[in-house]
Amino acid sequence: MPAPNHSASTDITSILKEKRFFAPPADFAARSHIKSLDDYQRLYKRSMDDPEGFWAEAARELYWFRPFTSVLDWHIPDARWFDGGQLNASFNCVDRQIEAGHGDDVAIIWEGEPIGEDGQPEVRRLTYNDLEYEVAKLANVLDDLGVNKGEVVTIYMGMVPELAIAVLACARIGAPHSVIFGGFSATAIADRVSDAKSKVVITCDGSWRRGKIVPLKDNVDEAMQLASGVVTHTIVLRRCGNPIKMMPGRDHEWEDLMSRAEPDRDPTPMEAEDLLFILYTSGTTGKPKGIMHTTGGYSVFTYLTAKYAFDLRPDEGQVYWCTADVGWVTGHSYIIYGILPNRVPSLMYEGAPNYPEPDRFWDIIARHKVTTFYTAPTAIRAFMKWGEAHPGKHDLSSLRLLGTVGEPINPEAWMWYHRVIGGGRCPVVDTFWQTETGGHMITPLPGATPTKPGSCTLPFFGIDAAIVDEQGNEKPANTGGLLAIRKPWPGMLRGIYGDRKRFIETYFSRIKGMYFPADGARRDEDGYFWIMGRVDDVINVSGHRLGTMEVESALVSHPAVAEAAVVAMPHEIKGQGIAAFVTLKGGQQPTEDLRTELVNHVGHEIGHIAKPDQIRFTDALPKTRSGKIMRRLLREIAEGHEPRGDTTTLEDFSVLARLRESEEG
Ligand code: PRX
Repeated sequence: MPAPNHSASTDITSILKEKRFFAPPADFAARSHIKSLDDYQRLYKRSMDDPEGFWAEAARELYWFRPFTSVLDWHIPDARWFDGGQLNASFNCVDRQIEAGHGDDVAIIWEGEPIGEDGQPEVRRLTYNDLEYEVAKLANVLDDLGVNKGEVVTIYMGMVPELAIAVLACARIGAPHSVIFGGFSATAIADRVSDAKSKVVITCDGSWRRGKIVPLKDNVDEAMQLASGVVTHTIVLRRCGNPIKMMPGRDHEWEDLMSRAEPDRDPTPMEAEDLLFILYTSGTTGKPKGIMHTTGGYSVFTYLTAKYAFDLRPDEGQVYWCTADVGWVTGHSYIIYGILPNRVPSLMYEGAPNYPEPDRFWDIIARHKVTTFYTAPTAIRAFMKWGEAHPGKHDLSSLRLLGTVGEPINPEAWMWYHRVIGGGRCPVVDTFWQTETGGHMITPLPGATPTKPGSCTLPFFGIDAAIVDEQGNEKPANTGGLLAIRKPWPGMLRGIYGDRKRFIETYFSRIKGMYFPADGARRDEDGYFWIMGRVDDVINVSGHRLGTMEVESALVSHPAVAEAAVVAMPHEIKGQGIAAFVTLKGGQQPTEDLRTELVNHVGHEIGHIAKPDQIRFTDALPKTRSGKIMRRLLREIAEGHEPRGDTTTLEDFSVLARLRESEEG
């Protein structure tokens, strides 16, 4: 195979493990926005030399009620983008398309999980006109409930179209939304509702997941008891018909409120730096942080990254499907805010990939003629395990582009995805980014960037990414280091809700003068980035971020537990699993029942995704003299030993104890 032609390497001594590369197919490149690596490099250079000119031009592709008067005002760590400008994110997603004469185009294609008696799932197609009608009504409902501009509305729903409607209704009236993933528990809701002082919660009776009902409203009820007095109103959409309790005066039926609401509501002009939403994500403490994104910069950044990384073009029959839940940032940016302004239908699927059978996704792709499919490596590894026969049963020839996000993709999963799902003809965009970055930071552009399996390739326009040491000095090619972003970009977080100190400490303190995403990475001789994973106490379970401290706090909140230490362990499907080392209080016995109880306790405290894969009982945790848990040792054990029951874990600790002696001596 010929070497990539973009940057001939003279470093012949550098031996990469992964040498395969895939040039963009010529016919794909010819039809795409950015058609060659030269085009990418030219535009990238422009975005570096004249970032303000570049971003001003991009911003003008959206609609502004009042034009901005400055592009960037940067006093680290505070970025202000597009000051003086006024816009509304729901207007750019919806009304703008209608005003341009596309009101009858499909905005959202939704498919429910259950299969009806006719053997078909429920499918709904919402045009921009439909969306505007519903969004405006719900905006009026929120107005009537007394929600003011700037007041946070919490959304805790399943993947139904009303979730997108709720998000856009908040944006329409300038009420920042805080969407909580439907897999989180009552305690997690209570923490987030209290932190955001959110008076209104929009929820569902339940949501469908693998044929079962997740009792969302019950969870909200429990959360309202835990955080008593915070929430004054809930709006409850009936989706599953499961029995729920409704408290008169506080709990309102979605149907009732909507049937009485007026269908006209002008979008509130928002200042560019007005808060659009907060989204809680895990960090290294037990308390999730509310990542803040503002209206102008986030809208522009998600719009432009979606346009180029997914090569979105209206009127060409594209159907775009991102499998993420709107409860995560991927769903915010690349189901709603980045996609709708590009006027390509965004498909939302309600349920599980293996319901009723493991071929559900491929069935959806074939029936809806999906052209662009965006999913997570953990899902791809599950598909691989389930076998090629499932995609093999369906016509996937509509696909033209594949994407991944959430964690480093192992080259074998990349190759499988490319060959089996993409039929060898679809480019794969491995998009690196974070809740904090708002949108893609390092990603191939499918018509331009030759890809290498396992690499997220090259930075997006305007993104000054580098591999540096602790002092911020750039490291040579192929040496691991800290990933850093040296210039501000429009989609960057503007803070952590209510915690400025943590904002500065987490992102702008470790490497002076730069944004630090807390990932380790290397850059190869072609300038390609290879993300190595988090360098803090955050683990990535199925592409979802979890702070080990959060799981530890949940464990020690159980009455039997004295102390707990949580580390990542390799996991075939999830990428990383959770191993918990637990010491019990005096008199407690390490039984199988207790192990199950602790796993469920964590599920109850945080949510299903946080349930430990292993619990190892031990009578002591290895610590330094200053009392710090030696996680590195625990990680080695979690990586190297299969759980063999309680006694062997005790042996592990005698090994640890000896190691500790030698380290400290
Ligand atoms: O470690 C990186 C990993 O996921 C983290 C961000 O997690 P979260 O904010 O939950 O957002 C996930 C969806 C954007 C990063 O710090 N990560 C995300 N995408 C990739 C990745 N690691 C490697 N390659 C990726 N494409």
